[in-house]
Amino acid sequence: MVAEPATPSAQPPHAQVLVASNRGPVAYSAAPDGTLQAKRGGGGLVSGLSAIGPDTDAVWVCAALGDDDREAARQAAQRAAGRTGKLDPEDTGGQSVRMLDIPEETFRDAYNGVANSVLWFVHHLLYQTPVEPSFDEDFTRQWTSYERYNAAFADALAEEAGEGAVVLVQDYHLTLVPALLRARRPDLRIGHFSHTPWAPPDYYALLPDETAAQVLRGILGADRAGFLTWRWAEAFADCCARVLGAEVTSREGGHELTVSYEGRTTRVGVHGLGADADFLRERAHRDDVAERMAQLRTQVGTGPDGAPRRTVVRVDRTELSKNIVRGLRAYRRFLADHPEWHERVVHVAFAYPSRQDLEVYRDYTDEVSRVADGINAEFGRGGWTPVVLHVKDDFARSLAAYRLADVALVNPIRDGMNLVAKEVPVVSDDGCALVLSREAGAFAELGEDALVVNPYDVTATAEALHEALTMERDERAERTKRLAAAATALPPERWFLDQLNALR
Ligand code: G6P
Repeated sequence: MVAEPATPSAQPPHAQVLVASNRGPVAYSAAPDGTLQAKRGGGGLVSGLSAIGPDTDAVWVCAALGDDDREAARQAAQRAAGRTGKLDPEDTGGQSVRMLDIPEETFRDAYNGVANSVLWFVHHLLYQTPVEPSFDEDFTRQWTSYERYNAAFADALAEEAGEGAVVLVQDYHLTLVPALLRARRPDLRIGHFSHTPWAPPDYYALLPDETAAQVLRGILGADRAGFLTWRWAEAFADCCARVLGAEVTSREGGHELTVSYEGRTTRVGVHGLGADADFLRERAHRDDVAERMAQLRTQVGTGPDGAPRRTVVRVDRTELSKNIVRGLRAYRRFLADHPEWHERVVHVAFAYPSRQDLEVYRDYTDEVSRVADGINAEFGRGGWTPVVLHVKDDFARSLAAYRLADVALVNPIRDGMNLVAKEVPVVSDDGCALVLSREAGAFAELGEDALVVNPYDVTATAEALHEALTMERDERAERTKRLAAAATALPPERWFLDQLNALR
């Protein structure tokens, strides 16, 4: 039988659930022979979408992040012969994914220029304000690209969504999408979710006035705006009141928020994404993790008394907001103040590459290595390396470090949630003391059983490390149990379904 050639079809769009995010569930890279290889990622959205089951028509719209992604998106469009093409389901684990081939310059301006260098900086309070930001003609151009990139998402979603569908738009990359999509498709139910903190109004007001207003009006195009903790939700509502003069109402002790603006009301909700306990526990007991544990144990070694050295573990992207350098300085302070710990403890620091297109991230990566080398030069001696720094991403090794950590150091300047703080207690073998920044979203749920620090206070962080290392084993184990329970209260599937249900 001869197959019919594919022809453009005029079938109406049918997706009932749509997710939109900058980074999609799959990334491509070209093999030496030129063929494209797909690598699938994980995370809350991937688990969430799989929880709605194969019977629901769902589409994930994301951007092509590099040349190889762009090539995959083009091939998908060609295969579809003029219709909007989805990636090969074999590459996506069966998920229907539309990857947008946005022109490279537009993407670069929107992603590096606006999302990562401005909105991320504002929400994480990262600017050195005497010299930055300064919004000039470069920013004007980048902002136009950000508008185009958001419009490309709104167009694609409007094309894919069936009548009355639910659309879940993710994060600071796509703040304009809800309003743009509502203008195109008033029948849809639209949610926006911020995975970052939200800036307090005085800091938010660093943005050019019109930009500040446009971002808020964009999100208020949604029926519901979601956040990871009430602290960020309230900051968003405060910004809406201050910048737009929107009316904010709060009921039930502040835990039911709405924002009304220009005749529409947006509900504000909180969904504190938790760790995926089943996945983590199963994954953390596979052979590759056991191998990495053996390697790490050898690297960490034994102290003068023959006992295995204790470990202070951190696992992060090399991200300015993660505060890795102050974490290392705190460990240095701790070693200086507590010589009794010399040769008996190792700081295992995993700092994986992130956003290396940005110079300030490359410089920060160098600084992390410099400070770690400095500590090793100052304190190290035959057979004892006080800091073991790994900069190559290796998930199995991260899980191995989680399992054997005596102390986990999670000290971000500011963080939407911080899942490492939630994952460590879940997989820890013998209990682990958690040193946690009060500026991480996770603090709201884990604060009681963690040793809480001000992330800027290196001296206090050093003291917390000492307290963590000297915590009695029983207490440590008890706290870890409670931390694990709190960390898994809202598993990713539930987190996702709750958001869908809130819109239905
Ligand atoms: C972290 C943040 C998310 C953000 C993501 C983007 O995971 O919590 O809010 O979307 O980084 O990272 P990327 O590597 O895609 O720039």
